[in-house]
Amino acid sequence: MGSVPSYDTMAKRSPKKAARKGTARKGLTGPRVVVVPPGPKSKAALERKEKFVTKGLRVGLPLELTRAEGPFVQDADGNVYVDLGVGIGVHNVGHRPPQVTRAAEAQLDKLTHICYMVSTYKPYTDLAEVMAGICPPGLTQSIFLNSGSEAVENAVKIGRAYTKKPWIVSFRTAFHGRTLLDISLTGKEKPYREGFGPLVREVLICDYAYPYRDPENRSPAECAKARVEEIEAAVSSPEVEGQVGMLIAEPVQGEGGIIVPPKEFFPLLRRLCDDHGMLLVDDEVQAGMGRTGKLWGIENWNTVPDLLVSGKALGGGLPLGGVTGKRAVMEAPGPASLGGTFGGSPVVCAAALAAVKVIQRAIPKVSRLEALMRNRLTEIYEGHERVGDVRGIGAMWALEFVKDRRTKEPDADFARAVQLNGLKNGLMLLPAGYFGNCIRLLPPLNIPLPLMDKAFDLLEDTIDLTLAGKA
Ligand SMILES: Cc1ncc(COP(=O)(O)O)c(C=O)c1O
Repeated sequence: MGSVPSYDTMAKRSPKKAARKGTARKGLTGPRVVVVPPGPKSKAALERKEKFVTKGLRVGLPLELTRAEGPFVQDADGNVYVDLGVGIGVHNVGHRPPQVTRAAEAQLDKLTHICYMVSTYKPYTDLAEVMAGICPPGLTQSIFLNSGSEAVENAVKIGRAYTKKPWIVSFRTAFHGRTLLDISLTGKEKPYREGFGPLVREVLICDYAYPYRDPENRSPAECAKARVEEIEAAVSSPEVEGQVGMLIAEPVQGEGGIIVPPKEFFPLLRRLCDDHGMLLVDDEVQAGMGRTGKLWGIENWNTVPDLLVSGKALGGGLPLGGVTGKRAVMEAPGPASLGGTFGGSPVVCAAALAAVKVIQRAIPKVSRLEALMRNRLTEIYEGHERVGDVRGIGAMWALEFVKDRRTKEPDADFARAVQLNGLKNGLMLLPAGYFGNCIRLLPPLNIPLPLMDKAFDLLEDTIDLTLAGKA
């Protein structure tokens, strides 16, 4: 495939038009492939990685990145890619939004660390106040941690302290992080759980409403109803009855392959939780912060959770996780029972305060991006038998690859080939899926539409060349 025309040629040819369309950027422009990736510098970097970094930490793309701005990332060999994964769903308004970097820099000059367990500082309390204003009604108390994984851990600790019931409902196709508890909450053995047991025993792994893979091909509404009935049967079984304290769910499953539940699913889960004295814990780490076109994914389902877990985009590119919940639940843990040295550091909270504002401003742009993504993905689906399903909401979409549309046999190798070939076309793509057979698209919410359109041309070309075995 070699090099592709630079996207910035459009801005050069017609600067006025590009400015009008919001496509002109100072600094990094692209996509631009100048050396077939991985180039020599990236290859050398990967050799160093093999020498000094554990192989348990696998690098998905054979690239050394040196710089990023807006929707673009640049590798050490000078290639510029359109980043459709944004650091696994972190840069929801592109890399390094100036408002966020300015806020972090200003805080670096004042106070970098003291620990909120030692004394209060304004950015943390300000962020907690902001969360009380932007989270679903009644969720008013927060704690901040260093990651989504740590936030999930804290949500479960808080939930257990409140309900005094040990068991947790989670989903086979879920992902909630990498700690021992978090991996206990997923059904995907490889690569997450294998070799790490014993895990937390008190977890009921149930099936999420995943209409494309519904074993009985039920309608979405019937699939949702049947799945909730199965969960009800599981929590009512004699071994655990009265001992299940919470259900944790992503409003749209991310790692699982952008599984958008039928609209009935969350209201039914809410009712189930109420009927059985269980808390509904909403993991918004990937689907939150505008990704679905609403600030929180669960707003799409008109459901109010008891605890909301945030992360990824909340920190504006810096590490942050949060739990925000109803006062009575959040006040259940004993004094000094929660915390951590760095959680909610002044610099990260200052960045988050700016990130929330920038993301809120970008949300109105999502409906046009969503329409473009739906249209282009539908075209790709119609033209390619190997694409078994395309689905998504807002700016969160996936293509699911299969060997055969009728049997739906997953094709993870094909998805991987598309991901690697995408690099040669100037695209940075992320895999996903319980079977590893999806490519997920998580562009910045404010990506210029002509650039996204161009990225779809390149994606389609990548799929065609992968099919032809030429890449
Ligand atoms: C829904 C969800 N929850 C939790 C996590 C874990 O977050 P982190 O990787 O920041 O620990 C992730 C990460 O991908 C996630 O997608």
